[in-house]
Amino acid sequence: MVNKIISKKEVKISIRNLNIWYQDMQVIKNVNLDIEKNKVTAIIGPSGCGKSTLIKSINRMLDIIPEAKVRGTILLDSQNIYEIDETLLRKRIGMVFQMPNPFPKSIFENVAYGLKLHRVFKNREEVYFKVEKALKQAALWDEIKDNLDKFALDLSGGQQQRLCVARCIALEPEVILFDEPCSALDPIATAKIEELIEKLKQNYTIVIVTHNMQQAARISDYTAFLYLGELVEFGPTQKMFTTPQNKMTEHYLTGKFG
Ligand SMILES: Nc1ncnc2c1ncn2[C@@H]1O[C@H](COP(=O)(O)OP(=O)(O)OP(=O)(O)O)[C@@H](O)[C@H]1O
Ligand SMILES: [Mg+2]
Repeated sequence: MVNKIISKKEVKISIRNLNIWYQDMQVIKNVNLDIEKNKVTAIIGPSGCGKSTLIKSINRMLDIIPEAKVRGTILLDSQNIYEIDETLLRKRIGMVFQMPNPFPKSIFENVAYGLKLHRVFKNREEVYFKVEKALKQAALWDEIKDNLDKFALDLSGGQQQRLCVARCIALEPEVILFDEPCSALDPIATAKIEELIEKLKQNYTIVIVTHNMQQAARISDYTAFLYLGELVEFGPTQKMFTTPQNKMTEHYLTGKFG
């Protein structure tokens, strides 16, 4: 007899009744969303619909924007993110931005920086070990291993973006937020980042904002469609792309607007 095991989905991040304003303008409207552990969740929607605002709220990046007001609840492993020390929260939830933004330092120092900041090493050897591991995971090691002292801003755009991923994963976060990580990259560099995300999801929970529908279809397990600050539709990517439940989702996916 075959045992029928029904695996329980593990929710990593739970967003409830989230509302966000910039001064008087409401840009996120009562969003409820569960993000599953070790899966890739894509956030799609037309420009200005609130995608960046939504993911920035997850690691409290909006705290540094005085005009932003956030109401509602976001739980990380069932704990309210506002009960977690902000620096620790950003270590647990890393972020990679649209434009590669390495520090004006060497390749090595870029990756070692966070390790030193959070003092997550015992000795110099461990720093080297962790830097090498992160650069390997980010699929950059082979290209730069003989040039760790090279100035990071002299790398190509695609290499800089992989360096930013290495800097992020060196801290062994639990969640990685990607805000359009490939929009400044050519197709080859884009393919590298996509492969990387595919590999990373075994160990990390990933949320990715993308304007590229093919990319969302290729790499995500779940997709959330946001429109004018509202979560219009959310579900398994394959299902949403083949049989969207909402007319607006269908129009967006078929390129009728946005
Ligand atoms: N700091 C800010 N102050 C005021 N308004 C803001 C601020 N940041 C964003 N907005 C506005 O909030 C709305 C949502 O912006 P957001 O950047 O979240 O959209 P988005 O979906 O990421 O767009 P895009 O696809 O162009 O990146 C937009 O109308 C934008 O102009
Ligand atoms: Mg954005």
